[in-house]
Amino acid sequence: MLPSVHHALALGISALSAVSAQTYSEPYRPQYHFTPAENWMNDPNGLIYHNDIYHLFYQYNPGGTTWGAMSWGHATSPDLIHWEHQPVALLARGFPDAITEMFFSGTTVADADNTSGFGANGATPLVAMYTSYYPQAQDLPSGKSVVANQQAQSIAYSVDDGMTWTTYDAGNPVIAEPPAEYADQVLEFRDPSVFWHQASGNWVAVVSLAKLHKLLIYTSTDLKSWEYVSEFGPANAVGGVWECPSIFPLALDGDEQDVKWVAQIGLNPGGPPGVTGSGTQYIVGSFDGTSFTADPESMQQTNWLDWGPDFYAALSFNGLPADNRIDITWMNNWQYAAAIPTDPWRSSLTVPRKLSLATINGTATVVQQPIVQNHNSQPRHWSSVPTGNTKLNMTGKAIDAILSFSESTSTEFGLIVRASADLTEQTRVGYNFDTKQLFVDRTQSGETGFEGSFASVYYAPLGSNDGNITLRVLVDWSSVEVFGGAGEVSLTAQIFPSDDSVDTYLFSTDGTTTGVELRAQQVQSVWN
Ligand SMILES: *[C@@H]1O[C@H](CO)[C@@H](O)[C@H](O)[C@H]1NC(C)=O
Ligand SMILES: *[C@@H]1O[C@H](CO)[C@@H](O)[C@H](O)[C@H]1NC(C)=O
Ligand SMILES: *[C@@H]1O[C@H](CO)[C@@H](O)[C@H](O)[C@H]1NC(C)=O
Ligand SMILES: *[C@@H]1O[C@H](CO)[C@@H](O)[C@H](O)[C@H]1NC(C)=O
Repeated sequence: MLPSVHHALALGISALSAVSAQTYSEPYRPQYHFTPAENWMNDPNGLIYHNDIYHLFYQYNPGGTTWGAMSWGHATSPDLIHWEHQPVALLARGFPDAITEMFFSGTTVADADNTSGFGANGATPLVAMYTSYYPQAQDLPSGKSVVANQQAQSIAYSVDDGMTWTTYDAGNPVIAEPPAEYADQVLEFRDPSVFWHQASGNWVAVVSLAKLHKLLIYTSTDLKSWEYVSEFGPANAVGGVWECPSIFPLALDGDEQDVKWVAQIGLNPGGPPGVTGSGTQYIVGSFDGTSFTADPESMQQTNWLDWGPDFYAALSFNGLPADNRIDITWMNNWQYAAAIPTDPWRSSLTVPRKLSLATINGTATVVQQPIVQNHNSQPRHWSSVPTGNTKLNMTGKAIDAILSFSESTSTEFGLIVRASADLTEQTRVGYNFDTKQLFVDRTQSGETGFEGSFASVYYAPLGSNDGNITLRVLVDWSSVEVFGGAGEVSLTAQIFPSDDSVDTYLFSTDGTTTGVELRAQQVQSVWN
């Protein structure tokens, strides 16, 4: 436990969350990605847009920089770019000495019709549904009993727009156990994702039976009493466990008459090809209010939401219009999450990404567009870039670059970012014309030795658009996110370069690359 936390505890819980003296200029501190001021974070939770404010909750250990004492941290934003830290929303019960309940992942809804009856003083109740993890067997205030290490689904509510929360002790857990046929899975039952389904007039919750690679679907009229109605899975990639599942509608090619449903599912371990550890897949299908059915085309291959190593527990916001579906994802990997060389925080989140569904190469494909500061740089053009490295007159540690180029006779083309003066340290973001893959090479990206698989190259398939290839590259002090084409593939990877590795280059391998256009700008810190 960090000394500063001891101090905060002495002052009481609210002090825990006060933005501490962290400067947001420590080595590797992301400048425009979300990080807690200090301590450990994992999954984003409870994302909701309510009364003009975006709420981000997240798995948080108030007591240190590794996993433990799982609580819900909280931050708010007017614009998804600037975040303000808020008091811990759900603090592990009994923290720090004798924890009896942890608050694992879940989601939040606005109960506008007061179906839960939690409303008070005219305020719309926000209701969070999460997994209660009980370290010890115990009898609960609701009269229910749980066994040691049981995972069960519970609710809490807020009548002050998400700032303070009350657990529903009279009824929790509201889904105590999986259905009888899966009674032996009571320790592997988690991560409820709840939404209002207008057509059926029900609340719907999707819960993971992690080890069996199943999504269990429940419905409710009041968020308190839940009926098990169907299951989905296993399907496509299974991995070790399925976690943090959710389903949501997206109009195919913008056609409101052709709405599909997307299931997004975290796998751990079991990421994309070449990734050791965590990953996230999606399956396109339909949902009738009780059952999710995969489209046969979406079952012909595994669909990766991101092809990189640092993308897990994707979650989208409730409370936004149907044509504005936005995901945020944990930018880390269980393979080495607790070993990354950052202090006094561990883990950041991806930039928010707007999702759409487009027919690409004949298949309904999730397309992602990053939500970042406006890009207003002027384009630079090269009719041809020669073999080798071409140094750019732009240096920086936080960069937004949009690079396009024509299919060429070179084998590879791309950007080198976060390069040291002698180029012994560098991260390569490029495209291979032969294999038609974009790639991120972090083998020489800086600190890589804290885990054996970290120094690797990652690949994603990307076709050209009439011979034109586009890469959007977001570099921060400890990450690279690449969006290929219109965003039909993304590849996210952490990097830990030296503070003075700030050079950028174009590289063209085994030949010249033609039709090159680059727009690139520094990204400002959103923290200071
Ligand atoms: C919500 O329902 C509860 C229980 O019936 C009631 O006490 C409360 O006044 C209602 N709140 C609102 C805002 O309607
Ligand atoms: C980089 O060089 C280009 C082309 O000469 C020029 O237009 C641009 O202003 C330069 N940028 C910087 C940051 O010096
Ligand atoms: C496009 O689809 C074909 C046929 O399924 C496949 O072989 C090819 O790899 C796909 N191309 C890309 C860039 O994904
Ligand atoms: C390639 O596509 C990008 C992005 O749409 C565009 O800015 C660029 O002008 C295109 N390049 C060519 C040579 O068509």
